[in-house]
Amino acid sequence: MIVMSSDKKSVTKSRKDDHIRICLEKNVEFAKSNGFDRVELEHSALPEIERSDIDLSTRFMGKKFRYPLFIEAITGGTAQGERINKNLAAAAEALGIGMGVGSQRAMLEDAKATRTYSVRDVAPSIFLLGNIGAAQLRKYDTSRVLALVDAIKADGLAIHLNVAQELAQKEGDKSWKGVFDDIKALCAKSKVPIIAKETGCGISGKLSEALVSAGVKAIDIAGAGGTSWVKVDSHRTDDDVSHIEEWGIPTARALKDVAGSVEVPIIASGGIRNGVEVAKAIAMGASLVGMALPLLKPATESSESVRKHLEKIISQLEDAMFLVGARNVSELKKVKVLYA
Ligand SMILES: Cc1cc2nc3c(=O)[nH]c(=O)nc-3n(C[C@H](O)[C@H](O)[C@H](O)COP(=O)(O)O)c2cc1C
Repeated sequence: MIVMSSDKKSVTKSRKDDHIRICLEKNVEFAKSNGFDRVELEHSALPEIERSDIDLSTRFMGKKFRYPLFIEAITGGTAQGERINKNLAAAAEALGIGMGVGSQRAMLEDAKATRTYSVRDVAPSIFLLGNIGAAQLRKYDTSRVLALVDAIKADGLAIHLNVAQELAQKEGDKSWKGVFDDIKALCAKSKVPIIAKETGCGISGKLSEALVSAGVKAIDIAGAGGTSWVKVDSHRTDDDVSHIEEWGIPTARALKDVAGSVEVPIIASGGIRNGVEVAKAIAMGASLVGMALPLLKPATESSESVRKHLEKIISQLEDAMFLVGARNVSELKKVKVLYA
């Protein structure tokens, strides 16, 4: 067992609180678009449906969702992280959608942090994902990493690929050789599904094929156009990292590529900010659509605030469904997508 110094523990925790503060106070979004402005759904001038009949329920990895939405990994490890996770989870439970906790690295360094990621008391039935950075797989035994899932009663584990962010952090991990084999070994040992996710630079079709061959059961695109982690970390370093602030595959482009490359379920995330973009992503092949940054401020307030924000997105999604004449998610998937 690796024993961490208390210094290391507090570095991980204070970094998480720094990230929250920066995301709440600064402009941390890409200047470039998520790519959905170049995607149109074929309008139906005569939909022949009742808006009130629209049913958005779906299934993802064996679990029923009332809406095809997912609250992306944000936080944990600190008292503030605990409050945020509970508010997000309670909103997810009320709406019948899924959620991921933030990186559980703090739990690997200090088991006492477990409670800050534990949300089953407020969200007993949601699809819940644990989370750890791919670079951490170099340092910890597979069994310790997989224990993170059981500790919070999650349904699966997201492995985040955040190479641009690590590059922008002074203390970041620059040693990525062998990580693919670590992911493969983890998938081979895991009884729960392993999901690969980016954090805002996107996953290519080619990489998604390799990840699926390694045993990954779903891909969360997390493309460019929303939160830029290089921008976030630029506020924590004296180094000039501006040359990579806009680095990454726009979400819509990554989604088209991945959907054309693999059969596993896809979560589309990265700069999704309204229900029309959600509709476009589903028509392009996403099973679920995820958001992080827009839910952060509401999550610092209350579960009610998170729920209200998501209800607005749901209502916008229903508008888009009405305008394409889709009564349910299966019909939305068949709508013609036009690319500019
Ligand atoms: C404050 C904050 C903290 C985040 N922490 C994590 C994390 O610990 N693990 C992870 O996989 N992604 C993390 N993300 C990335 C999101 O899960 C998501 O992939 C990314 O922000 C793109 O979505 P967005 O544009 O809707 O924010 C975080 C995002 C935010 C805003």
